Amino acid sequence: MHRRLKIILIHVVVVGLMLIILAAKNYPTPHEKYRICGDRPLRPVRHRSTRMVGGVNVGVDVWPWQVSILYQPNSSAPLRQICGGAIVHEKWVMTAAACALEDKGKLLVRAGSNSLDVDDVSTQISEVSRSVVHKKFGPYSMRYNIALLEMKTPFVFDSYVLPICVPNENIAQYNFESCYITGYNAQPGDDVGMLQEAKVWLITRSLCNKPLFWNYTVSPDFICAGEFDGGINGCETNLGGPLSCYIKIFHSYFLIGFRVKATSCELPHQPNIYIKVHTYFFWIEKEMNVSLI
Ligand SMILES: *[C@@H]1O[C@H](CO)[C@@H](O)[C@H](O)[C@H]1NC(C)=O
Ligand SMILES: *[C@@H]1O[C@H](CO)[C@@H](O)[C@H](O)[C@H]1NC(C)=O
Ligand SMILES: *[C@@H]1O[C@H](CO)[C@@H](O)[C@H](O)[C@H]1NC(C)=O
Repeated sequence: MHRRLKIILIHVVVVGLMLIILAAKNYPTPHEKYRICGDRPLRPVRHRSTRMVGGVNVGVDVWPWQVSILYQPNSSAPLRQICGGAIVHEKWVMTAAACALEDKGKLLVRAGSNSLDVDDVSTQISEVSRSVVHKKFGPYSMRYNIALLEMKTPFVFDSYVLPICVPNENIAQYNFESCYITGYNAQPGDDVGMLQEAKVWLITRSLCNKPLFWNYTVSPDFICAGEFDGGINGCETNLGGPLSCYIKIFHSYFLIGFRVKATSCELPHQPNIYIKVHTYFFWIEKEMNVSLI
C-alpha cells in the first residue's frame, strides 16, 4: 500500500514537472500572443540604487521590443541605422514620423539583436510593407511626430523578440517604478553599435521649458527625460528610441514615449524630448486596426 502511494506521488510530480516545462517552452502560447506585452521572460525587473551616467551594454533579451530601423538609399550604398523603434504587435513597429519619411522599400527593421552589425541566432529582419505617418505631421512641428511601420514578415515572438505594452490615458496615470531609454550606441568610441540602456528620470515640463533647456518649446503632449550629466541620451541617430517605464501593478513595461528630439552629442545638458504615446492611443489602434488592451 505504502509503495503504491509512493509510485503515484512520483507520477504526479513527474507529470507536474512536464506540464511546467511545456508551459515554459510554449511561452507565449499562440492564442495569447496579442495580449502578452512588456514582459521579459528571462530577466527579473532591475532595481538600481545608483544613478547611471551614460549607457551600459545589455542583451536584447532585456529589451526584446527594441528594433533598429535601417535605410539603404540604393543598392551600392551601405545599409545604415537611421532610427530606433519599438515592437508593439507581431506586425507593427512604432517610431517617430521623421524616421518613416523615406521610401518604405528602402527600409528594413531589425529585431532580436545585441548589436547593430552582427546578426545573432535570435535576430529577425523584415521589410516594411506599409508605412503610416501621422497626417498632421509637418517638418516644422514636433507634434504628431509618430509613425507605424507594418512588417512584411510578422515577428515570431520568443524571449528575444516581444512587444511592449501601449498605454492609454488611464494607464499613463499610474506611477512608473523606473524608466529606461535604450538604443544601439551611435556615439563614436568604445562599444559602437552595441545595445545599451540608461535609467532616466522624467523631468517636469516647467523645468524642461526653462530658457537654459528648451525655452518654452515643449508642449503638453511631450515628456522630457534625461540625465543632467549627459550620457547616452544625445545624438540624433537614436530618434524613435523607446522610453520604457515599468508599472508595478501590471508587472509590465509600457511604451510611455519615444524620442522625437535629441540633443546633439556636443550638448549634453539638454534633456531629450519624448512624445507621450498615450495621447495617440486611439490613432494607433485605429491605424493598426487591432485592439491593444
Ligand atoms: C547611392 O546613395 C549614395 C548615398 O546617398 C550616393 O552618394 C550615391 O551617389 C548613390 N549611388 C547611386 C548609383 O545612385
Ligand atoms: C528664448 O526664447 C525667446 C523668445 O523666442 C528668445 O528671445 C530668447 O533669447 C530665448 N532664450 C534663450 C536662452 O535661448
Ligand atoms: C479591421 O479588422 C477587421 C477584423 O479583423 C476587418 O473585418 C476589417 O476589414 C479591418 N478594417 C480595415 C480598414 O482594414
